[in-house]
Order: sequence, then structure tokens, then C-alpha cells
Amino acid sequence: MSEGPGRTEREGELPAVSYQAVFEASPDGIIIVDEEGIIRDANPRSEELFGYSRDELVGSLVERLVPPEDREDHPAKREEFTRHPRIRGMGAGLDLRAIRKDGRRIPVEIGLRPVDTEEGRFVIAAIRDTSERKRLRRLGVGYLQIIEEERRRIARELHDDIAQCLAALLIRLRVLSRSDDPDTRDRLLAQMHDELTSAVEGVRRISRGLRPPALEDVGVEAAIRSHLRAFLQESPLKLELHIDPVEEVLPPDQQLVVYRVIQEAVSNAVRHARATGIEVEVRRVPHQVVVTVTDDGVGFDPEGTFLDGAGLGLVGMEERARLVGGTLQITSRPDRGTEVTLHIPLAGKHSPVPGASHG
Ligand SMILES: Nc1ncnc2c1ncn2[C@@H]1O[C@H](COP(=O)(O)OP(=O)(O)O)[C@@H](O)[C@H]1O
Ligand SMILES: [Mg+2]
Repeated sequence: MSEGPGRTEREGELPAVSYQAVFEASPDGIIIVDEEGIIRDANPRSEELFGYSRDELVGSLVERLVPPEDREDHPAKREEFTRHPRIRGMGAGLDLRAIRKDGRRIPVEIGLRPVDTEEGRFVIAAIRDTSERKRLRRLGVGYLQIIEEERRRIARELHDDIAQCLAALLIRLRVLSRSDDPDTRDRLLAQMHDELTSAVEGVRRISRGLRPPALEDVGVEAAIRSHLRAFLQESPLKLELHIDPVEEVLPPDQQLVVYRVIQEAVSNAVRHARATGIEVEVRRVPHQVVVTVTDDGVGFDPEGTFLDGAGLGLVGMEERARLVGGTLQITSRPDRGTEVTLHIPLAGKHSPVPGASHG
């Protein structure tokens, strides 16, 4: 690897490049694979990418880095490439997945190039982690989708409930204006009263859907408690709940994010996890509020779900967290349950936790 080709006539003027150093410092993972599919060398970036040390990588089959679902086909593809090698650059539209030592899948782009050596034909694979690029794209799309979906829902409710009620009112008003009979007028007025009442209720309900009024009226803690009580009423799930007082340190928009994230994470635990218990915590720690929702259910592969085009729930939680300067992490393993963690940094003046807290 060390003495590469490509020296120029300017040799002598410039110090020679150490190709070993370039290999070591490459921002992309580089592995060198022989004709048998054995990894012959791996640079530090590939150790980071895959979570294996160089010693673990070198000597093992490259299929170790291929997720089980794609593993079976891989040797055939590899042999085909060695027989008819083409230079395959990065960004060739190939969306691949690799699997790390810890079982996590990462989206990667892979560039391939054959190189003939005395020991036979090797393939140089340059590997780039595309999670961050994917995440950014997903956030952009997710945000628009969330807005669209909410608009559609509001439009539907406005149309079905409010517009219908008001249209009925309008008709009765017209009838009323043409009628001289006192009994008819009384009856119409009573009907109009009922319709107006139901329109007002409809508006209240829609606005509650947009924003839970309990947050403004009773504060975030009571709103969370009352939501969970109602939501888990019929469920056999055991709930453990701890909420530190965070009202005075979190502005309303951040309180709303805490509420929404708990709402979505608990709803997922109930609907998807087949859990027996859920733990919800809102903790005030120095400089931040940390919200965790943990279930002991079946778990899932969050990265895989994101890659497959996640439901709006996960993207929505991530997006809401980001919009108030927070972060959201989802840790989940098959059969080990799921933990959703929201961190919200506190603005300067509230940062330190007051001496004696509560329990
Ligand atoms: N706590 C959980 N336990 C198991 N699977 C989950 C959990 N949360 C989410 N999932 C999986 O991730 C998928 C996407 O979730 P989400 O984005 O909230 O969409 P939705 O709830 O509408 O399906 C779910 O369909 C489910 O397969
Ligand atoms: Mg969901």
C-alpha cells in the first residue's frame, strides 16, 4: 500500500506523498478485499464505521459487514465483479446497507475499484456513511409531510363538523325570517340554539386537537397525567411515571414538545411494542430537561425504519425536538424494548437546578 504509482516529474521539488498516511487518514472507510472475499487491510475510518478493530477485520470475510438479509447473494456479486471488474464510483445511486459489530445497520455508499497485484486481483472498496445526509433529507420531507397531514385533518374536521352546522343554521335562519307563526319561530330558535352550541363545541374540539388546552389551563404535568390516565385506561400495561416540576423552566412551546413526544412514544409502545410496562420520566437535570419513555417490549430497528420511510410519528418527534433546540434519540433492540429520550437544553438564566430539589 505504501509506495503508490503516479509520481510526477516534479519529484524532487516536492516531498513524496506517503500513501500509507493517505490510507490512514482517508475520510472514507477503505477496505481491501482479495479474490476470496477476505479483507486484507482496513483503514481507521472503516474501524469507526463498522465498530470492529483492524485486527478483527483483517482476515475475515467481507460478508461479515453485509446485513444477513443481503448476505446470501453477496459472494456471487463479488465474484462477478472480480471477473468483470468495472470501476464503480461513489454516488452511483447505489443505496446499500452495512451492518456494524453492534448489529446496527448503517446506510452506505460504496465505490469499488480493482487493482492487480502480485498476489492476485484485489478490490479496493471505499465506503461512505450516508446516515447524516439521509437524516437531513428525511427531516426536510418529514416536516412538510407533517404540516400537510395536519392541514388535511383540520380541513376535514372543519368541513365535516363546523361547515355542516353553520350551513344548517343558515337554512333555519332563512326559514325563520319568512315565518310569522310564533310556534314555528320558537321551534326554529331552539334548533338553532342546539346547532350553534354544537358548532362551538366543534371549534373547541378542533382547537384542542391543535393544542391541548389542559397545557395552558392546568400546566404540563397535569396535562401529561390526564392524557396518560385516559389513554392507558383500558390497557393492562403497568405505568411508572415521574415528573419533575419543569413548568417555570420551560417556555410553552417546549412544554408542548414534551407533551407531544410523550404522547407519541407512549402511543407507539402501546400499539407496536407488545410491552408489559412503560416508564415515563421528565427529569430536570443541570442545564436541561430530559424526558424518557421506556418500554419492555419487542423493540425494533429505528434506523431501518427510518430508511424504509418511517411513519410520521418517529419523524414528527425528531422534528419537534429539533424545532425547539432539542434532540431526540431512539435506542431499541429486538426483544430488549425501546427507549425514547428527548433532551431540551435550558436557556441560560434557568440553567442551574435549585439546591434542594424534590423527590
Ligand atoms: N416502542 C416501539 N416498539 C416497537 N416498535 C416500534 C416502537 N415505536 C415504533 N415502532 C415501529 O416503528 C414504526 C414507525 O413508528 P411511527 O413513526 O410512530 O409510525 P406509526 O406509529 O404510525 O406506525 C412502527 O410502525 C413500528 O413498527
Ligand atoms: Mg406512531
